[in-house]
Amino acid sequence: MQLVLAWIAAATAMTPQRAIVVGGSSGMGKAAAKQFVKNGGHALLVSRSADKLQRAREEIMRETGADAYAVDTAAVDATDEASVAAFAAGLAPDSYDALVVSAAGRAPHGPVAELDVADARGMMDSKFWTAWHCAKHVAPVLADGGSITFVAGVLNRRPGKNCAPLAATNGALEGLTRSLALDLGPRLRVNCMSPGFCDTERFDHMDTERKAAMLANTAASLPLQRVGEPADMGAAIHYLASAQFVTGVVLDVDGGHGVRQYADAATDPMRRGDG
Ligand SMILES: NC(=O)c1ccc[n+]([C@@H]2O[C@H](COP(=O)([O-])OP(=O)(O)OC[C@H]3O[C@@H](n4cnc5c(N)ncnc54)[C@H](OP(=O)(O)O)[C@@H]3O)[C@@H](O)[C@H]2O)c1
Repeated sequence: MQLVLAWIAAATAMTPQRAIVVGGSSGMGKAAAKQFVKNGGHALLVSRSADKLQRAREEIMRETGADAYAVDTAAVDATDEASVAAFAAGLAPDSYDALVVSAAGRAPHGPVAELDVADARGMMDSKFWTAWHCAKHVAPVLADGGSITFVAGVLNRRPGKNCAPLAATNGALEGLTRSLALDLGPRLRVNCMSPGFCDTERFDHMDTERKAAMLANTAASLPLQRVGEPADMGAAIHYLASAQFVTGVVLDVDGGHGVRQYADAATDPMRRGDG
């Protein structure tokens, strides 16, 4: 009997998944979609821009060798609850077993005293309320045994100066993850991936030299001496969607950002060994 149960558990974990990826037209969401497709699954990419979605779909099919049936797209602005509700109403119940939400707009940076509150609210709108809307409306149509995976970020528990909007938004998402794991269990699992710095299209608007300096500076501070690649995040999201006994967790995928040292190594007595 135990052998049979173990076999069923293993078979379930390996079943190719059908994933809805909100934020799937770029960066980590696109990388997660590739991972589902590479593993024999299906990805429905969701974001606002039909052009970006089409380009991402073509890239995923080209890179994975998958056929046209493996990737679909839907243009939805997830800040708008009515649009998300209409999108979810168009999904056949049980036709998807994974929801990933990695959507976020541009983040405002600056001291709280100087930031426009409307910009900080906009961050919550594009990253937190999008996740809330998707969980509320898409969860009921996910198949039993499915999962939700949110994407938060290192700035919650290891904040940086001038990054309060992202820090607060990421913290709210972590709280939502734990609450939903209780609300939706045992039917669905709910987890959150917390990435560190990752070289995605998110930074494409930056001046090339400034972007390279920012990435190099972060890489030098990390135990792994590099920033993340989208594929690192895609693999972690796929893991969370597949791990049948994991729910309510926040998985840090940050190259060791959580344990990085800030003091100058040359003047830090602890690291010179004489502290
Ligand atoms: N990159 C990093 O270093 C880093 C570090 C820590 C945490 N994070 C977090 O990780 C997540 C993914 O980041 P990324 O670098 O992959 O970002 P990205 O490349 O900018 O991708 C963001 C995605 O969200 C979609 N999106 C934005 N607003 C939307 C909305 N209202 N409705 C639906 N889709 C929307 C975008 O497509 P459209 O423009 O077509 O809507 C795009 O597909 C974000 O939450 C980000 O805050 C990133």
